[in-house]
Amino acid sequence: LADVGFIGGTGPEGKGLAVRFAHAGLSVIIGSRSAERGAEAATEVAGIGGGNVTGGMNLDAAAADMIVVTVPYSGLADTLADLEEAIGEKIVVSAVVPLNFGGGRIGVIDTADGSAAQEIQRLLPRSSVVGAFQNLAAGHLLDVAHLVEGDVIVCSDDKEALAKVIELAQRIEGIRGVNGGPLAVSRFVEGVTALLVNINRVNKVEAAIKVVGV
Ligand SMILES: NC(=O)c1ccc[n+]([C@@H]2O[C@H](COP(=O)([O-])OP(=O)(O)OC[C@H]3O[C@@H](n4cnc5c(N)ncnc54)[C@H](OP(=O)(O)O)[C@@H]3O)[C@@H](O)[C@H]2O)c1
Repeated sequence: LADVGFIGGTGPEGKGLAVRFAHAGLSVIIGSRSAERGAEAATEVAGIGGGNVTGGMNLDAAAADMIVVTVPYSGLADTLADLEEAIGEKIVVSAVVPLNFGGGRIGVIDTADGSAAQEIQRLLPRSSVVGAFQNLAAGHLLDVAHLVEGDVIVCSDDKEALAKVIELAQRIEGIRGVNGGPLAVSRFVEGVTALLVNINRVNKVEAAIKVVGV
């Protein structure tokens, strides 16, 4: 794996994962709708954890070997429509969670495809979509001195892609990748994020998950 590109990489989640991957020795490209914001985020990420980090447009990130999608769910369909050609048959990792903050309660939007990850697979039919990292919160990822402990549940219909993303997750010190099965299981992984956000809110923490017995 030569490099990882982030679509919508200028937000906390994209930057947080980028900090960890760059720190682990992978080359990272931060994508944005604005080349200037992409470049600024790259400077920030390199300043936190070091490594080889560049920034540019989402189209520049789409040229990487492996793509990680970290746009908000609301911008997902429009963003990927313009990138299908550039992404082609590559592995696309979805960290997207379709959260609903309406009415002061945090839940998950009931999406037509079952999950954001499955929606990405419909939007990018030629690529191998893998759901992962949805349960890792950005705050701790961005603090490189903090050991992020926890499991990353990895789901895909492409077994080879699934194995590669487990390896990617385990480049982050303290993280174990767990095979969660087919892409459709991402629905439940995305739901766990809503659970974690609620736990975080009432306990004033930034929680992660660990599965025992596996
Ligand atoms: N934050 C967390 O702790 C966390 C944890 C797990 C999963 N996630 C998931 O990871 C994704 C990113 O989270 P985040 O908190 O980093 O999000 P964010 O800051 O709201 O958005 C990330 C980036 O996406 C771009 N963007 C925003 N609206 C867009 C739109 N309508 N169309 C295209 N691009 C748009 C922006 O980049 P430019 O303006 O530079 O283009 C923005 O910096 C979300 O799907 C979230 O559910 C987040």
